[in-house]
Formats: sequence, structure tokens, C-alpha cells
Amino acid sequence: MCGIVGYIGIRQASPILLDGLRRLEYRGYDSAGMALHHGGALDVLRRAGRIDNLKQLVQEQNPQSLAGISHTRWATHGAPTDSNAHPHCDQSGKLALVHNGVIENYQSLRDTLKQDGHTFSSETDTEVLAHLIGHFYDHGNGDPPAAKLVAAVQEALSKVKGTYGIAVIHTDCPDVIVGARLGSPLVVGLGKNEHFLASDVSAIVAHTKDVIYLNDYDVVTITKERYDVTSLEGGRAKVKVSRVDFTEDDAEKGDFPHYMLKEIYEQPNSLRNAMRGRLSRDEATAVLGGLQMTPQELRQIDRIILSACGTACHAGMVGEYLIESLARIPTEVEIASEFRYRNVPTTKDTLQFVISQSGETIDTLAALREARRKGIKCLGIVNNVASTIARETDGGIYIHAGPEIGVAATKSFTSQVAVMALLSLLLGRIHHMSSTDGIEMIDELEAIPDKITEILKQASHIKQIAEKYAHVDGMLFMGRLINYPVALEGALKMKEISYIYASGHPSAELKHGVIALVKPELPSVFIAPHDAVYEKNISNIEEVKARKGPVIAVATEGHPNIEKVADEVIYVPRCPANLSPMLTVVPLQLLSYYVAVARGCDVDKPRNLAKSVTVE
Ligand code: F6R
Repeated sequence: MCGIVGYIGIRQASPILLDGLRRLEYRGYDSAGMALHHGGALDVLRRAGRIDNLKQLVQEQNPQSLAGISHTRWATHGAPTDSNAHPHCDQSGKLALVHNGVIENYQSLRDTLKQDGHTFSSETDTEVLAHLIGHFYDHGNGDPPAAKLVAAVQEALSKVKGTYGIAVIHTDCPDVIVGARLGSPLVVGLGKNEHFLASDVSAIVAHTKDVIYLNDYDVVTITKERYDVTSLEGGRAKVKVSRVDFTEDDAEKGDFPHYMLKEIYEQPNSLRNAMRGRLSRDEATAVLGGLQMTPQELRQIDRIILSACGTACHAGMVGEYLIESLARIPTEVEIASEFRYRNVPTTKDTLQFVISQSGETIDTLAALREARRKGIKCLGIVNNVASTIARETDGGIYIHAGPEIGVAATKSFTSQVAVMALLSLLLGRIHHMSSTDGIEMIDELEAIPDKITEILKQASHIKQIAEKYAHVDGMLFMGRLINYPVALEGALKMKEISYIYASGHPSAELKHGVIALVKPELPSVFIAPHDAVYEKNISNIEEVKARKGPVIAVATEGHPNIEKVADEVIYVPRCPANLSPMLTVVPLQLLSYYVAVARGCDVDKPRNLAKSVTVE
């Protein structure tokens, strides 16, 4: 949430900052701004709304500068107005700051600063931090300005409670940008005669592939020629230069009108990447070296907790079905934001997985830290390899889905499910699964990507259905067993990008209350593949039809009987029930996408949302 980009070097800063912000816009799009050094003063440009508004201001003012910081905002404190937009300045107007995170004790700091004569022009916690750093700078010793700025940042940050990724500049030292992080990601980009700061490598990958992922409590100083990382207390910090393994094109839309559609279409490939090198026919199992656990250690596990938020949590729910049915290990899904405050019973051989696309979701990170406090071994199922969760877990499984930019998660869901399937294959083989069953599962897993390609060929049929129902106010999503989480995921996708109220239910729960909602204006989407409960799903569809509710069904090809009861049918290829969520979810992704497009919604940037949720 919120995106930061900083640049110092030999090129004009504002185009680099604008381009970086555009690539970070998925992190928030309530307002955007930048501050640039200019002739001993600061040019501060800020605008409420999308980055295009800021771009227009930049075009009007055409600021000339070789160094600056910038920000795209997801509002936490204060409305999305010009005055609440970052950067914020200190009392002197000589220091500017951009911030991602939340300063929890900002009210008391603000009161103290006010007593000292500080006046504030915004309602944000960030402005308080700018003033606090400015205060310590103005009361600093006789060090050179750059050293004084670093000391002021360190002193101010030692007084704040909360989370931050920040970038700071001061007119006294125009050749320096200072950054720091705690709980919110910050990356340093290394160039020749130039350096960058960013919340995410995608903002700077067009300029450099050599980066340093800062750790919590790191404070970094960048100049044109060098960088210097210290810890908040002042000592030298450990630094590792990493090479980014994706290109700027991976994070581009290409010929697709939206990132979401591009990412839906990437799924055959992203699934191949999730499984590549991880299936062993010789041993009829999955090879997951990242777990860093021996078969003996894996065999001892007597309970598994899967902790995640949103879509990743739905993938975890699919994982619960998979692990329990294939490996017979009791498995519980815990919503990460609840787990962190609950006191979940565990055993000494409990294993926890945290599942997160971004690897930065603060609630999931807190669930990980809570598990570790309790001495539970905690592994990650993560997409973003350099993320905080990836670095803090004891090991895990990367999903290798590539950059997911669309705010609505799509390919990360199917890849998380694929990884859950690999995990349950591995655990199943350690317990009761025969090698014949293992090989059969490998065959079926390897066939999934091509089956998704077949589903994608039905996009125009799904678009027609979407356009027919795009005007409705609500939708129900029904599924059973392993497809119940898919119903939840379908409802979440519909809500978040089309703003149609939608809810997901186990189909048989209909008659326990939900059926009261059924009426001709409320379509129900049934996920009804040809599995053990197919006939039961058909009965539930009949119950809806008897009350004149329209029904859209996702069914298995070769079983056309469903057309007698459902108004619309979208077929997916045959596959074992356990793996069906990777197929059945795809029509629901496309359905929500085309409904949102038909309603004129901003698919990639749905209102009020941001992709990486780094606030609690
Ligand atoms: C929904 C969506 C969110 C995320 C959730 C967790 O489309 O994207 O529900 O799934 O915020 O995010 P990660 O996986 O990054 O932890």
C-alpha cells in the first residue's frame, strides 16, 4: 500500500519518478506527488486522484532536477485531497518526506510538536513524521548536513510506533536521499552514476536489475555515486546485492486492455512455472526442496495451519481439502488477521504455512511472527521472492507466478492451489498414497495448463453471459466441497471489481437461509463439476429455478444434462475433483472481468483497494 520512488543521478528525475509511480499505481491511487531539489529550494507537486493528474501538473511546471522523491497514496489518515497528498514538508519547508505505512502514535507526537510551535497543513500521520525529523535536524549538532539528516531520521524513527518505508530529502544536502524501513518494503536500485529507491522493484527494473532489499531497521543514504546502509541504532547493516530475474516487459500489459485479463491468460504458463522441476515420476511424488525438511520430519507433522488473507486464504481453503483428503493430516485455515489475535491450540509437531502473493501483507506477516513466538515452525507459500514474508519464514515454496499487477488476484490463486496440490502429493506419498496414485496425480497435474487454455477459448461465450447479467445488484455463488472456496473466490472477484454485492456459500446451505434472497433479479452461479456431489448440486439448482432465480453453471464437459436446469452453462474439461478448482475458478475470473468491463469499472484499480496491504 502506497508506493515510493526516489531518484538521484545524472538524468532528469521527474520522468523517472512518474514512470516508477505508474508502475506502482497498483499499490494505491488516491493521490500522487513528488518533491525535487531545485536551485537550493524544493519543488513540491501534489495532486489528488490518479497519477495522470500529477503528470499533467508536471507537464505544466516542467521541473528541472536531477534528484527527487515521489509517492502514490492509498489513504489511511485523512481524505484523498491535494493537501493530504505526499510529499509532506517539515516546519521549515526545507525537508520533504514520502511515507508508506502507519505512524500509530502520531497524535501524541503531533500534540508535542504543536506545543513547540509547529503548525500542520494536513491530517496525515506522515506530516507529523516530516516535522519530527525536521525538528531533530534543526536541533542537530555541527555535523555536515547529510550526516545530520541521517542522525535526525534515526532519532525521529526511534520515537515512532508503527510501520514505515520512507524517503527524505533536505535542501541543505541536495546530493543525498535518505530512506528507511520498518514493516513496509523498500528497495535500493544500483545504477552507474545514479541510484534509486522504490517500494517494489517493478518501479525501477527498467533502469537497473541490481538491487538491495532493505531489512527492517535499515537506514540507507544514496547519492549519485554511492550508497550506505546503516542500522537504526547507527551500526553498519548487512547488505546483499540481488539480481532481479524479471524484465520490465513482464510487468507490462502488452496487447491486453487490462493487467487482470493478461494475468488470467497467463495461467497456463504460470501453472507450468509453479510445477516445473517439482514433479518426480521416478518417485511418484513432488520435490519441494525449499521446505528444508526431511521425509522423517514431514512424517511427524500432526497438524497443519494455513494462514492468509483474501484470495490467498481461499487458496488455503482448497489446500485444507487437498491435504486432509490426500495426506489425512488435520489442517485448519486461519484468516491471518484473526490468527494474530487468537490463541489457536497447537501441538509440538504443528507446521504452519503463510500464503501470500505479495509477501508483504501485514496481517499475514503478523500471523507468521505470532507463530514463531509460539515456537511453531512456519513456512511460506509466496510469489514475491524478495518479500519480507519470504525472508522471515524458515523455508517454503515459491509459486513463481511472475509479477501480478492487477489488483484482483487471479494467476496467484491458481498457482497457490497448484503448490497446495504439490504439497499434498508429497505429504500423501509420505503417508498412505500409492505410487500408482502418485503417478496418476502427476499426469493430471501436468494436464491442467492445457485444460485452462481450452477454457480461455470460451472467453467470448463468457463475455456474452457477463453482458446479459451485468446490470444486476447482487449475485450468489454456490459450490460444494473443494469447490466451496472457489464459490468464495468467485464472489470476492465479482465484488471487488464490479461492485456488485456477491456472497459465496456451500450449495446445501441454500435452504438454511440464503434461499430467501432468490428472485428473478438475483442470479446464482453454481460451481457444479461432475464430482461426488454433482447430483446434489443439480437438486440445489432446481430449488433456485423453482423460485425463478436465474442460474449460471460451471460444469464438466460431457455432462450436458445440466443444461436442462441451468440458464447458462460454461463447461470446463474433465479432471479429478481434487484438482478441479484450478479449472472452475477460471470462468469465474472471466465472468467478473467482463461484468466489470460492461459496467464501465476500472478493472485494474478498483475503488478503495490496493494490492499489497501493508496496513493492519
Ligand atoms: C483479492 C486480493 C486480496 C489478496 C489479499 C492477500 O483479489 O487480491 O484479497 O488476496 O490482500 O494478499 P497477498 O496474497 O499479497 O498476501
